[in-house]
Amino acid sequence: MKISVCGKGGSGKSTVVTLLANEALARGYQVLVVDSDESNSGLYRMLGFDRLPVPLMELVGGKKGLKQKMGQPNVLSGSQLATAAIPEQHLARRDGLRLVTIGKILQSLEGCACPMGVLSREFLKKLSLQEDELAIVDMEAGVEHFGRGVETSIDSVLIVVEPPLESVEVAAKIHELATGIGIRNTWAILNKVPSDEIRTKLEAELRRRQIEVIGCLHFDPLVFSSSLEGSVRVDGSAAEDIKSILDTILSKAGQEPGG
Ligand SMILES: Nc1ncnc2c1ncn2[C@@H]1O[C@H](COP(=O)(O)OP(=O)(O)OP(=O)(O)O)[C@@H](O)[C@H]1O
Ligand SMILES: [Mg+2]
Repeated sequence: MKISVCGKGGSGKSTVVTLLANEALARGYQVLVVDSDESNSGLYRMLGFDRLPVPLMELVGGKKGLKQKMGQPNVLSGSQLATAAIPEQHLARRDGLRLVTIGKILQSLEGCACPMGVLSREFLKKLSLQEDELAIVDMEAGVEHFGRGVETSIDSVLIVVEPPLESVEVAAKIHELATGIGIRNTWAILNKVPSDEIRTKLEAELRRRQIEVIGCLHFDPLVFSSSLEGSVRVDGSAAEDIKSILDTILSKAGQEPGG
């Protein structure tokens, strides 16, 4: 199963990816996190790694070489790619957790990020998973990745929504684009919710836009304060809240834990 985590900038995508990955690991899944955000580099730290793996972009000769090198043989040339076939230098790993990163914008005037979108799309399309494997994709903020077709082979889209109305509006756009390409498993989760009152209002805004809400992460002061160190505390309320969200994702996607 391939889950993409989307939403407005700063809504909590990378935090949710980290919480989901840890919870899935605790349930015995093999988890592949795909860092598809070309701007932010901190996901590896949030997941508890001390280095970023070599970006997959390097495998195809960097941004400039993408066009030429996509035609040349490498592990991405076949029609399918198993997690076990990803070269070691392109992985950070511990226990059942693996992280790959597509690429980052590092220099000014380096050109647009479209080649990274192409690589994300091709990598996700070719990625073939075992039954006990989950791929969780940390998307860049906003909706541009839909324009690049990154979601073509994604089974489930999880939209992270926080209270500002703008976050709801981005969610509505993502929902429209995801369902438009036929992804039926497109759901929202609420994040950083401080009270039941806000939860009810936010849910109403999303339902009014025909967006199904499958869970709520409350504002977790431990998560917030750990972000100053670049990490995500997984022993607070958010780590508790994510459990029922993962249950719902797995049961809605027709997959039982360990199955
Ligand atoms: N449930 C929560 N409770 C408290 N703080 C949270 C929660 N979820 C996320 N945050 C905080 O919100 C901030 C943004 O989170 P995060 O980096 O995960 O967002 P993002 O959507 O990945 O951002 P970007 O679009 O920049 O990649 C961080 O300080 C994080 O700790
Ligand atoms: Mg992020």
